[in-house]
Amino acid sequence: SGEGCSMILRPSRVVVGFGEPVSVSCEAIRPVRVLGWDSVISAAETHQNLSVQWKVDSLIDWIEEPICYGVFFTPPTQCEEKLNLVLYTPDSVSIRPVNHTGPMVEGREYQLLCEVQNIAPVQYLTLRWYRGLTEVYNHSFTDLTSSLPVQVSSILIITPTKAENGAQYRCVAELELGPEGPQPPPTVTSEPLNASVYPPAFLSPEPEVLDLVVGVEITLNCTATGNPTPVYSWQSSHPMQERIEDEAILTSSSLLPGTYICMASNTLEKKSKQFIVKAKTK
Ligand SMILES: *[C@@H]1O[C@H](CO)[C@@H](O)[C@H](O)[C@H]1NC(C)=O
Ligand SMILES: *[C@@H]1O[C@H](CO)[C@@H](O)[C@H](O)[C@H]1NC(C)=O
Ligand SMILES: *[C@@H]1O[C@H](CO)[C@@H](O)[C@H](O)[C@H]1NC(C)=O
Ligand SMILES: *[C@@H]1O[C@H](CO)[C@@H](O)[C@H](O)[C@H]1NC(C)=O
Ligand SMILES: *[C@@H]1O[C@H](CO)[C@@H](O)[C@H](O)[C@H]1NC(C)=O
Repeated sequence: SGEGCSMILRPSRVVVGFGEPVSVSCEAIRPVRVLGWDSVISAAETHQNLSVQWKVDSLIDWIEEPICYGVFFTPPTQCEEKLNLVLYTPDSVSIRPVNHTGPMVEGREYQLLCEVQNIAPVQYLTLRWYRGLTEVYNHSFTDLTSSLPVQVSSILIITPTKAENGAQYRCVAELELGPEGPQPPPTVTSEPLNASVYPPAFLSPEPEVLDLVVGVEITLNCTATGNPTPVYSWQSSHPMQERIEDEAILTSSSLLPGTYICMASNTLEKKSKQFIVKAKTK
């Protein structure tokens, strides 16, 4: 590029998704001997023609730096113009707790890690953390300059509370590629992560009445939702005949008629549910 070179690239900046087609024309606005594109994948040259196209059906080359050159009859006789080309990738975004498995406990601190694979150009990336619909943190990577796909991550520190009942965390990768890029900016969202804590809840909290038929197995189902996962215990109105497991579901053919109370508890609360087992009389 130089003073008086009179070469124009249309468009002057291109933003293209990985594998998409691209076409740019280089135009001279004074008589030219040779006009061409210097490019690894799609070179072109014309003689005494005022315009030459650089065209690729599917751009997948990260090191492509097309340059338009012109050889003119009058000074300046050698000119070149480098194309401002941005190749971007769709990416994949994942989210997980660091060094932790299983349900989270209220009041304790956890780190959530958001990882983005194969992102380019990373300097245009913003990672946004959401709790529910609220953006709680964002992380930009403007200090990085690689045009090649890279892997980046962001950590969010959270302390689950009961007040956030049902809240889910998400991480959104957004590429702000400028006015030449796609509008709205392309985004990829992670799976939601349930970091909420909530007390045990039964599908139906009312007492259940079950008919007992001798020799037929009956099932007392005390399954409750809750985070952390509830633990269970059972009590009966009369002495237990057999050891009752600390399970959500009690299945037996040798239960006696009476009232059975199941307790589902986690770190937040203890809830109970009644089962009334009646002898069936014909
Ligand atoms: C000049 O370019 C036009 C359009 O790209 C093309 O049709 C024509 O054949 C070219 N002429 C020469 C002399 O290369
Ligand atoms: C995760 O645990 C490993 C080993 O237990 C430790 O080396 C690492 O520093 C921990 N990472 C964080 C972020 O706490
Ligand atoms: C990032 O979050 C801050 C507040 O925490 C906000 O002022 C800023 O606009 C956000 N940046 C972007 C790019 O959304
Ligand atoms: C997270 O919560 C949503 C609804 O609150 C539920 O549909 C989803 O199965 C939960 N995911 C996990 C992994 O527990
Ligand atoms: C127990 O009840 C839960 C819902 O409360 C249900 O999802 C589950 O399938 C039941 N299990 C059995 C063995 O009936």
